[in-house]
Amino acid sequence: MASKLVAGNWKMNGALADNAALLRALAGAGDLAVACSVCVPYPYLAQAHDCLQGSAIMTGAQDVSEYVAGAYTGEVSAAMLAEFGCLHVIVGHSERRTLFAEDDRQVGRKAAAALGGGLIPIVCVGETLAQREAGETVEVIRRQLDAVAEVLGGEALGRVVLAYEPVWAIGSGRSASTEQVGEVHGAIRAWLRERCAQADAVSILYGGSVKPANAAELFAVADVDGGLIGGAALVAEDFLAICRAAA
Ligand code: G3H
Repeated sequence: MASKLVAGNWKMNGALADNAALLRALAGAGDLAVACSVCVPYPYLAQAHDCLQGSAIMTGAQDVSEYVAGAYTGEVSAAMLAEFGCLHVIVGHSERRTLFAEDDRQVGRKAAAALGGGLIPIVCVGETLAQREAGETVEVIRRQLDAVAEVLGGEALGRVVLAYEPVWAIGSGRSASTEQVGEVHGAIRAWLRERCAQADAVSILYGGSVKPANAAELFAVADVDGGLIGGAALVAEDFLAICRAAA
């Protein structure tokens, strides 16, 4: 049985003073019954770690280098993230894939680097609207996952979190339907079972316009083990309502 996780992705948002208010509200939330994490921009990791210490919410990051250390200007290693108390790190978000040209195999290498540094990668996959309309959704997702599996191998695959994020649902206000989510999450679980003894223990998150109003119905779909939350993670009461909907 996969454990539940709700992860917030702040993306490139925040400022010290605004963060302080948001983090204070999150830290004061009390027991949330499921694992919850906020993935903040690198410069705010220390602030988030300090504010959330002892609370029900963990700190995470939004990207990690595929390299361990050395002459890689601008990169941040898994070991550095671990020093700032990160447990989770998002890899392969569609914004990284489309805006920064990350390919499927690089996403696999980043997931491997995260695991090697003691972090849990949240590996994102998802189709564009054109791919969905062409009937290619499951094929695209299997291709993205295959590349990660080739790099990681079956045993390590059992230690990642996967996130299905249809590109067209991200920030659009238009979540995938429960039927669409159920079909893809079922396909991802089937794909896992073909490769990994711990397939049923891998958490599969849904992301894409999750809000307090639709979280409970999305989280009730089979094989949905929580969510990856963008815009709603920037509003404490919305993020906490979504966390509670996953319990
Ligand atoms: O990482 C989070 C996703 O991109 C979802 O963003 O909740 O704003 O649609 P959203």
